[in-house]
Amino acid sequence: MRIVDLIKEKRDGHAHSPEAIRYIVTGAADKTIPDYQLAAWLMAVLFKGMTIEETTELTRAMAHSGEVMDLSDIPGIKVDKHSTGGVGDKVTLVLAPLVASAGAVVAKLSGRGLGHTGGTIDKLEAIAGFQTSLSTEHFQTQLKEIGVAIAGQTQNLAPADGVFYALRDVTGTVESIPLIAASVLSKKIAAGSDVILLDVKYGGGAFMHDFASARELATTMVDVGTRLGKSISVALSDMDQPLGHNVGHALEVAESIATLRGDGPKDLTDLCLKLGGILVAGAKLTPDAESGEALLRAKIADGSALAKFRDLIAAQGGDVRVIEEPGRMPQASLKVPVLAPQDGYVSELDALAVGHACKVLGAGRERKGEPIDLAVGVAVHVKRGDKVRAGETLATLYANDAAKAEVAAAELLRAYHWSDTAPAAQPLVREVILAPDLR
Ligand code: URA
Repeated sequence: MRIVDLIKEKRDGHAHSPEAIRYIVTGAADKTIPDYQLAAWLMAVLFKGMTIEETTELTRAMAHSGEVMDLSDIPGIKVDKHSTGGVGDKVTLVLAPLVASAGAVVAKLSGRGLGHTGGTIDKLEAIAGFQTSLSTEHFQTQLKEIGVAIAGQTQNLAPADGVFYALRDVTGTVESIPLIAASVLSKKIAAGSDVILLDVKYGGGAFMHDFASARELATTMVDVGTRLGKSISVALSDMDQPLGHNVGHALEVAESIATLRGDGPKDLTDLCLKLGGILVAGAKLTPDAESGEALLRAKIADGSALAKFRDLIAAQGGDVRVIEEPGRMPQASLKVPVLAPQDGYVSELDALAVGHACKVLGAGRERKGEPIDLAVGVAVHVKRGDKVRAGETLATLYANDAAKAEVAAAELLRAYHWSDTAPAAQPLVREVILAPDLR
């Protein structure tokens, strides 16, 4: 087999054989196919697409390009959740301990920030001492002991995705449904959980801007998962505006703690309960997602959810005092209010612009591996549909540099759009597509 022939095959719109797909994936993982040929092939896939059979084979081959975790000797149904990325998306920090407090085993492998979106692993590092680089043995022992672990992905997990992802990022080939589906699912399958829930975000702050493409991605992932014997469910959720109020690492951990205590913002709490209900039902702890939600509400109310977060922090070496004293996390030296320039309703709060404002403050990386400022970020007090008067505080910037705060404030003002009448309400979760075994 020759890669150049396979590039031409895809360029001309033909479907690859399973052997051809395995040849490309193996060549990517062991680096025997050069980047320029892989990049040409990725572009051909972006333009010509893949059949569901090809996407399934691509996912399978990528998942098996490295280690596939075996969690079978950990008792209970193992659940995992993955978001396609957003602004202020701190759901994992709340959901993992919440669902574990109800008795599910949450084996979560998370990533760092990507583009304008934040990453769970970076956020957890705002807690002094918190270790995210866990050995497989530590990860599995912790799951047996407390039912929850959150770790960064290892080099061994779906290495072909690492190669493809880095190339896609710089060759304009991210926005391809088969490539995104295989990228997300290969990592989830390699991570070994039984029940997987994907939170596919759509809107200005997501990688899929419109609902129709997000839905096509969602149905593709459910279908591929089913073909590979995995229970994959998908929630399609709004990412036009940030989730919750806080965006930025320490700020998001603080908001997650408040949510686990029952004092969180409504949208974040509702989304965590909705997704959590599906996971709890998937783990067969309740007959359906609605009773799963009720169980999780009770776990927040009786303090078990927050106690589980404390166990998680302790098990991974973090300073548990942040639960009572969030001020122990990195703190910004400047708090700058951003004031409403006019009276009116907020018709839109552009999540992408809020993400960029945080990046300007130092919360995001320009290059791989760069240090980030865990203290900085934005608290948006006023969101879509709120009515304000000129001069009221829209948001607070948490900054460590006055010049950067000035640029971020201008960016944040651009995020707010105005109208004289209240905008139509948008659903937080527009659709849930359950795995066939949960329907
Ligand atoms: N997240 C992933 O892991 N892969 C993609 O391709 C897009 C989002």
